[in-house]
Amino acid sequence: MEPERVRQTFRQPEAVAHYTRAARDLGLWRSEVRLFTSLFRDHEPLLDLGCGAGRIAFGLWELGYRRLQGIDYSSEMIREARQIARFHRYGIDFRLADAVALPLDNGALDGVIFGFNGLMQIPGRERRRRAMREVRRVVRPGGRFVFTTHDREHRVFRDFLRIQTTIWARGEQPDELEEFGDNFFRTPEGEIFMHLPNRAEILEDLEATGWRHQSDLMREEIANESSEVRRFSDECRFWVAEG
Ligand SMILES: C[S@@+](CC[C@H](N)C(=O)[O-])C[C@H]1O[C@@H](n2cnc3c(N)ncnc32)[C@H](O)[C@@H]1O
Repeated sequence: MEPERVRQTFRQPEAVAHYTRAARDLGLWRSEVRLFTSLFRDHEPLLDLGCGAGRIAFGLWELGYRRLQGIDYSSEMIREARQIARFHRYGIDFRLADAVALPLDNGALDGVIFGFNGLMQIPGRERRRRAMREVRRVVRPGGRFVFTTHDREHRVFRDFLRIQTTIWARGEQPDELEEFGDNFFRTPEGEIFMHLPNRAEILEDLEATGWRHQSDLMREEIANESSEVRRFSDECRFWVAEG
């Protein structure tokens, strides 16, 4: 599965419009507010990685955070984020870059947030690990990496797991998919690639890439989300790691 193919999906007008609506109307989830405010202080430099149209960075700005930047590898998403930031006079720098090669100095940040399962949209476990190592490089010792994933072994994905197990056992998965847990989701915004890991896989990846696992909780364990948020995004696991 070529990373470029995934990137192209995030350049499509439907995808950009979807994440622009999220940035304008939805804002931070209750779970995100709770977690981010408990982990980060408002003077700390933070990166919203895979920022899309800026939903998380704007939400943090509204909470009083001031040393924020956003990075995404879709130029169309970055254009939208910059436009919204200009309109609202948010002092946030948005840059075009790939998570596997961040244009940032070693230890430059106190925290990186790769929200809404963006890390799992990088195809290939080794490439995801490259991104995790790269985030480790730009976070200072003791800084935090927060990201979300689905969890294919959690009860909410029971049907997904049953169906995928059958498909992969018969070898009927699409040719481009390489690892069990890889899937294309059909959404109104198009076909979206996503890897659904299990918990053990992420624990191994954190250890292999120089992170110390701090906590992981399902979203429903952190906060009761509004129906809008639940419509926008399925249940997920929030991971917190320390550098
Ligand atoms: C599910 S969207 C989330 C957007 C935004 N964080 C939000 O919550 O509305 C994932 C975003 O990650 C970006 N992304 C995925 N892989 C990336 C990579 N390797 N480097 C930079 N951005 C990436 C996509 O372009 C997309 O904008």
